[in-house]
Amino acid sequence: MASALETYLNQFSESEWLETVNAISRESHPVDANAVQIWFRFFPLEFRRFTEKHPDESELRRSLGLLGDFDLADQIDSSHTFLYGHRFWKVVKAAIEAEAEVFADQKPSLTDEIKQVAANIAEKLKVDVSLILGITAVGFMSLNQVGLDKFKAAAGEIEKPTGLMTKSPDRIVAERQKDDSQGLLGFLRTVDKKYSVNWVDKDGDGKFGIISEEEIASASARDQSQNWRARDERAWEGVVPVECRSASCGTCWVGVLAGEKKLSEVGWRERRMMKVFGYNQPENEKPNLRLACQAKAYGNVSIVIPPWNGVFGKTVYGNVEELDLEPVTTSAKKLRETIASVTSEDE
Ligand code: FES
Repeated sequence: MASALETYLNQFSESEWLETVNAISRESHPVDANAVQIWFRFFPLEFRRFTEKHPDESELRRSLGLLGDFDLADQIDSSHTFLYGHRFWKVVKAAIEAEAEVFADQKPSLTDEIKQVAANIAEKLKVDVSLILGITAVGFMSLNQVGLDKFKAAAGEIEKPTGLMTKSPDRIVAERQKDDSQGLLGFLRTVDKKYSVNWVDKDGDGKFGIISEEEIASASARDQSQNWRARDERAWEGVVPVECRSASCGTCWVGVLAGEKKLSEVGWRERRMMKVFGYNQPENEKPNLRLACQAKAYGNVSIVIPPWNGVFGKTVYGNVEELDLEPVTTSAKKLRETIASVTSEDE
């Protein structure tokens, strides 16, 4: 039987959760203000509710074009490594489990419930609550999506911060805002300015160069420093998974942790296709959820790459216009499969 806390959390719709996330994000330290918004879009509640009702995973993958690991239950401890607050996860998880023990028939608002538990954690850890709010909201939603038994069964392990994430929250924010120096004669450069895209995904972090006005996906493809496909089978070129490069397949969605104002505005096609894919892109001109094949950079940006992608807007939300999806994903994939089979026959 579901606990009182699970029943309470389960009554809220995805848009009610997102309203709460807006409030939490406003009160979070800037280091996690975008990150918490992004996490809630990488793991949408309605998508989870839909997939739960359809346990045949291979059919789900086929019908929604799902690639990668979309199941939050597989990544309870690791889905949020890109939040600064991830380092507090063990304590946050324990506090939410303790809250599940004592939660009764109270009727707090969702925001107040999260804030209250976050305040208790902050006091215990002696850190500012603005650093705890985001990861606490993530913890509550994780419990809501996977249920208390699976939530408790996760080990509560954390990834040790590396690189920039070892610095103070203020320093991280300041470093993320900086652009690469253009050198002594940089003032002479016009369109050929060079910047960096700092990335993080479930397995690590790094950066690649980008030329001013270049799309993130093109810049990522030029980085051949690793066998990216060995890390993520969706990554055919650089670290950012791509397929069509024309806003048609949804493979290249990324969250923008910092620098979204240094990206091009969202065009009508990206805006429309994000709805088709099911990705909940905020409505503003420079949102923190983008298609890497469409977003052009005009300075340094920091992105997070989600562990999965799919095309589920119409099926899950039913709120997109009737559209014949361009069959780029399917055809490109078929082409590759055909090439692979021909090549292996030749061997
Ligand atoms: S690569 Fe297909 S939408 Fe960007």
